[in-house]
Amino acid sequence: MTHQIQDPVNGQALQRSKLFRLDGQTAIIIGGAQGLGKTAALFLAEFGAQVVIADRNEEQAQATAEEIGALGTRALALPADITVKSDLERMAASTVEEFGRIDILVNSAGINIREPAMDVTEEHWSSIINVNLTGLFFACQVVGSVMVRQGYGRIINIASHMAKIAWHLRSAYCASKGGVAQLTKELAIEWAEHGVTVNAIAPSFFLTPMNEPLFADAEMSAFISHNTPVGRPGNPEELGSALLFLASPGSSYVTGHLLLVDGGYTSR
Ligand SMILES: NC(=O)c1ccc[n+]([C@@H]2O[C@H](COP(=O)([O-])OP(=O)(O)OC[C@H]3O[C@@H](n4cnc5c(N)ncnc54)[C@H](O)[C@@H]3O)[C@@H](O)[C@H]2O)c1
Repeated sequence: MTHQIQDPVNGQALQRSKLFRLDGQTAIIIGGAQGLGKTAALFLAEFGAQVVIADRNEEQAQATAEEIGALGTRALALPADITVKSDLERMAASTVEEFGRIDILVNSAGINIREPAMDVTEEHWSSIINVNLTGLFFACQVVGSVMVRQGYGRIINIASHMAKIAWHLRSAYCASKGGVAQLTKELAIEWAEHGVTVNAIAPSFFLTPMNEPLFADAEMSAFISHNTPVGRPGNPEELGSALLFLASPGSSYVTGHLLLVDGGYTSR
């Protein structure tokens, strides 16, 4: 039996040239106000999706939604803290009310506190795990329930290359991202039969607001470029193109995967 890749919106078989188009689809990007999430939102919108920018930074989310809207795409900003389940439920309900469906979820909200393991307080540990792992799980659960009902969905969790390798001063962060990689596989096997794929992306070092302190340190910046086989940090655009594949109907047979977008960093 040959499986045909279908347009999730109208159920028609897709021509090859349309496999990476997202016309009529709806994407939620949590943490979409800035950084990698914003680039993801711009990519998804440019390939045809209407987008919801969900972020705890309401003002920045609004600015990003307006920027995307000015490009001719429907874009909505919704205030949401990924650690508050009722925020996630409201976000999903408002999206369905506005657009009728949710095809794509990008979990890009993330935080990091760089400090020696010996200094990590219970408060710091919980705040990182709550945003990067627990919140991400409940975002998958809440939006996943809509996708399972629809019989189609693409979930992309932004992990990190620190899901694969360890770095100094990042005990909670490494633990959270390793958890995201493993959780992604578990959800992938639970929801595969419902047409919902769950994948993760593992970026190395990209130029975003989160990494401003790293790249402000000339020695660290040089160290990163020296240890990255392509010889430089990543441009968020290079993450957007990898994400587009996982967000599109064309990736229908890829699930539970951790896609390293790291310029070869972890291949050494
Ligand atoms: N930038 C990199 O090089 C890099 C590398 C590996 C992994 N990552 C991961 O990629 C993701 C995005 O990173 P970034 O560099 O774009 O970070 P960023 O700090 O530039 O953006 C993160 C966004 O998430 C939002 N956010 C934070 N906590 C939130 C919460 N509780 N609820 C809702 N929104 C919240 C912020 O308001 C912000 O808009 C993170 O998960 C990060 O760990 C980034």
